[in-house]
Amino acid sequence: MKKLLTVIIATGMVALAASSVASKAADINTDNGGVESLRGYQQLSDINKSETMKRVQRDQLPIDREYVQQPPLIPHTIRGYQINLNANKCLSCHSFKYAGEMGATKISVTHFVSRNGTTLSDVSPRRYFCLQCHVTQADAKPLVENDFKPVDSLQ
Ligand code: HEC
Ligand code: HEC
Repeated sequence: MKKLLTVIIATGMVALAASSVASKAADINTDNGGVESLRGYQQLSDINKSETMKRVQRDQLPIDREYVQQPPLIPHTIRGYQINLNANKCLSCHSFKYAGEMGATKISVTHFVSRNGTTLSDVSPRRYFCLQCHVTQADAKPLVENDFKPVDSLQ
């Protein structure tokens, strides 16, 4: 009986040790090592609070570009505008074909250039998903404080 008890206790201890090893291993995977990111000091295993949505103003004057290669901000709401395999709402106003009629800015010729530098006859796949680069205008504070100034030619 005594022997059986010892075996049970020993097994229990081994299991306990194994579980603490396992939890140490989990820490190694999720501990961010004290690195602070734009989300603050956050362990990878924690569920962090999501940012409040920025209010997109309805239609407004375009905010000037800050540098020459900046994708211009979108000065209008885009709620419900779909971009998928069959349709691209943005192009129904901004394509060369419809821009004049819709009074919208034409996409520039850079949007026809493929990744190997060939100019295609339609929008290049790498420019198809407009929101990869263009975002709606909102009154948002810079994520990181900075003293960036646009070049003279853009001021
Ligand atoms: C119903 C037509 C319409 C649709 C759809 C539309 N736009 Fe526009 N967009 C306009 C018009 C008109 C302007 C010009 C507004 C102005 O200059 O005040 C404009 C302006 C812009 C500009 C600013 C251009 C510049 O030179 O400053 C960007 C960027 C833009 N739109 C991107 C988009 C994207 C991305 C989508 C899809 C998510 C989209 N638009 C959908 C009509 C449209
Ligand atoms: C890979 C990034 C990227 C994607 C994707 C992209 N754009 Fe742009 N867009 C830019 C940049 C950068 C500029 C400014 C420089 C230039 O004209 O190439 C620009 C300029 C523009 C302009 C202003 C053109 C002018 O002559 O002032 C419009 C309008 C525009 N884009 C609309 C769109 C629409 C609509 C889509 C989706 C079909 C789209 N863009 C996809 C990066 C992108």
